[in-house]
Amino acid sequence: MFAPRWGWGLGSLQLGQLQVWTAEAAGRWACRACQTRLYGSGPDERWPGSDPEVSGFGPAGRTLKEWALLVSPFGRLRARLPCHLSVRPLDPLTYPDADRVLVAVSGVEGGAQDPARLQVKYDEALKEVAIVSDTIDPQATVEVNAPLKFGNTDLNIKSSGSGCIKVQNIECDNCKIETEHGTSILQSVKSQKLHVQTRGGKVICLGTVYGNIDICASDKSTVTVDKLQGSSVNISTEDGLLKAKYLYTESSFLSSAAGDITLGSVHGNITLQSKMGNITVDSSSGCLKASTHQGALDVYVSQLGKVELKSHKGSILVKVTSSLQAHLQLSGKEVDVNSEVHVQEMAEAHKDDGIIITGLMNQANKHEKWIKADAPKGTVSFRSQSWFQSLKLQD
Ligand SMILES: *[C@@H]1O[C@H](CO)[C@@H](O)[C@H](O)[C@H]1NC(C)=O
Ligand SMILES: *[C@@H]1O[C@H](CO)[C@@H](O)[C@H](O)[C@H]1NC(C)=O
Ligand SMILES: *[C@@H]1O[C@H](CO)[C@@H](O)[C@H](O)[C@H]1NC(C)=O
Repeated sequence: MFAPRWGWGLGSLQLGQLQVWTAEAAGRWACRACQTRLYGSGPDERWPGSDPEVSGFGPAGRTLKEWALLVSPFGRLRARLPCHLSVRPLDPLTYPDADRVLVAVSGVEGGAQDPARLQVKYDEALKEVAIVSDTIDPQATVEVNAPLKFGNTDLNIKSSGSGCIKVQNIECDNCKIETEHGTSILQSVKSQKLHVQTRGGKVICLGTVYGNIDICASDKSTVTVDKLQGSSVNISTEDGLLKAKYLYTESSFLSSAAGDITLGSVHGNITLQSKMGNITVDSSSGCLKASTHQGALDVYVSQLGKVELKSHKGSILVKVTSSLQAHLQLSGKEVDVNSEVHVQEMAEAHKDDGIIITGLMNQANKHEKWIKADAPKGTVSFRSQSWFQSLKLQD
């Protein structure tokens, strides 16, 4: 229908799409391409440019073709691509009416990609911009700037093969991201409902990600999170590490088959489950339920809800602040309570080939706040230490 154009060209208007090839636009994109090249070294971007799985995505190379679609009002972005995809907000100063979606495809100089293989369409009835290709070079990068804001915008993007997805500074109602082996990077995203799925790629959340979040990572995929905030958060991995610095949620469910679960500061009701992996929590305030079959548990409790810890085959280390009020029930093959912990009404019972220690810390009400730890084949160690100490020990 139209001749594919390479590099910069002149303005042309086609089939309801506004195709921008002006010098001004070319300059802007050229400039953005320079910024893209800096990803690997920029301290804020934290783009893992050195990572072989995503290299080629960072230094995007030359812009080969671009589109500016007139959309009014915008509703949905759908993408199905075998290459890299980056989604960012449309600049509100340049486009105060929020009525454009800008799409650019870039690739490495001399690459074999043909941008004509990329279909970019706006469906007015669906209010949907669709970006689709089966055949574009996997090394190419598609960059989208869209007016994504709360109030009826959806993002539904999927990459195949090793295509990576990066979504930055956007808001949307429903956000669905899927990769096969490519990395997904979410940076400062707000969404009512956010669903991320990967069959083997990494999932990296940078800055704060808000919303009801569901991350499902299979095979060796790892999930790394700076900060998640939402009423409901579910994350699962199979073999890969699940690591989060901050979690502020009403309820979270985190699970891994063989990977470790390593958490920093967690708030709210949290359930953690691993079959083979270790579970570490630097600081928990709220209800915590953690269990592992083969692994060990290492948990620091700073503020108490109910805490229930179980390791079927491994050992458990529980650390608490000395002022914590708690009813304790510690059972294991061995139980070791540090002499610095002052336990009242301490009782010891023997059962099978294990021991059960019960008692109260700081006149706790028996029925409200308790810590239960059970390691039938291992040792339960109970220590009192300041949060500060616990951090130092971790380093
Ligand atoms: C998390 O899982 C629970 C239980 O399966 C479910 O009720 C909840 O809707 C899930 N939350 C999200 C954000 O998917
Ligand atoms: C945690 O769960 C308890 C009930 O199990 C509930 O009363 C409490 O409000 C929850 N906490 C949060 C932060 O949602
Ligand atoms: C799990 O924890 C145990 C006990 O602390 C430790 O010996 C082991 O190396 C840990 N495993 C991994 C994979 O970190």
